Amino acid sequence: MRPPYARRVTKMKASEIRELLKLTKKPDIISFAGGLPDPAAFPYKEVDMISTQVIEENYVKTLQYGTTEGFNRLRRQLAKRMKQKLKCNVSADEIIVTSGAQQAIDLVSKVFIDEGDTVLVEKPGYLGALSSFKLFQAKFFGIPLDEQGLKTEKLEEGLKKYKKAKRPFLYTVPTFQNPSGITMSLERRKHLMEIASEYDLVIVEDNPYSELRYSGKEVPTLKSMDTEGRVVYLGTLSKVFAPGMRLGWAAAPEGIRKKLVLAKQATDLCTSSLIQYTSYKYMKDGHMVRQIKKIKALYKSKRDTMLDTMDEYFPKSIKYNRPEGGMFLWLEFPKGIDSRVLFKKAIKKKVAFVPGSAFYVTEGEGANTARLNFSFASEEQIKEGIKRLSTLL
Ligand SMILES: Cc1ncc(COP(=O)(O)O)c(C=O)c1O
Repeated sequence: MRPPYARRVTKMKASEIRELLKLTKKPDIISFAGGLPDPAAFPYKEVDMISTQVIEENYVKTLQYGTTEGFNRLRRQLAKRMKQKLKCNVSADEIIVTSGAQQAIDLVSKVFIDEGDTVLVEKPGYLGALSSFKLFQAKFFGIPLDEQGLKTEKLEEGLKKYKKAKRPFLYTVPTFQNPSGITMSLERRKHLMEIASEYDLVIVEDNPYSELRYSGKEVPTLKSMDTEGRVVYLGTLSKVFAPGMRLGWAAAPEGIRKKLVLAKQATDLCTSSLIQYTSYKYMKDGHMVRQIKKIKALYKSKRDTMLDTMDEYFPKSIKYNRPEGGMFLWLEFPKGIDSRVLFKKAIKKKVAFVPGSAFYVTEGEGANTARLNFSFASEEQIKEGIKRLSTLL
């Protein structure tokens, strides 16, 4: 049989990195590779109680199809949180509930990318978004990061090329970025918004981690700085509730939101009603705020343990950042060291991380870098895993 594959599918290929990462799933491996929350902190008793309550209160609505935009009370709740916590002046009407932020990324791809279009992405960037854009046959213009985040002057250089052609959009994770843990400074954010205005740029701001700040000062979201309706904001409850709920959202200006709704209609009609009702009550009854407080203390301690152990055991030639929040930190080995080779050696010692080249759109870049996750492993495992890594270095 010769299945009639679409062209875009024939171009898809399993990445070398994904194959490597399968090795990290073995049960006896200490994994700093995934981006998973600590399951020991999952609010499973609350989910058990709330999901039973919402079914008993209204089984017809919780088990029925809902609107594509999402359950209205949940949309209002999400808008309220965005206002209170992120100072975003967003109304419930601007929100579309999605099955995780990853679905919102897929919808953005469907709405904006024609075959061969360029997308502006961070270097390094979030792998899930890069995969989605690739599926829609995008080309990439990668913009490097430094400790202040996206190098906006490089973005401007890139944009000059598109004065006449269809303008690319920018996908960015400005706060506690995945994979680097870097947060874009306020000055860069202001510069980015100026550039966006000058070049009529649409910005997709993906913000799964900003509620997880362990130190330092809050930085405003791009969405809160947007006075021209050019930021599409993506949010998720994955990191502050549970990723298995698959509850995310997009907050977008009217015209874009309508297109996202049409795309979602054709994708899955609506996000699970039961999950939406449960998530609404989880937020409304104050469980989310309590959960955030709990996991912030937990992850702060894990981050500090990882950094303290690295400070003690790693050679000085290895550079790493000290992220103020999120779940990841970024390592830079001396030039000439290939972190994929190191990865294979680490697996033999039963410890795993992600080689940094996975997060770059151009072959050969980021070979001497790596991402380490500190939220998943226990503190004991973190100490042991870092010591094992140090013996390789
Ligand atoms: C930057 C970023 N965006 C989106 C996602 C996907 O989130 P969700 O679980 O809501 O689909 C992740 C998950 O790790 C992420 O790091």
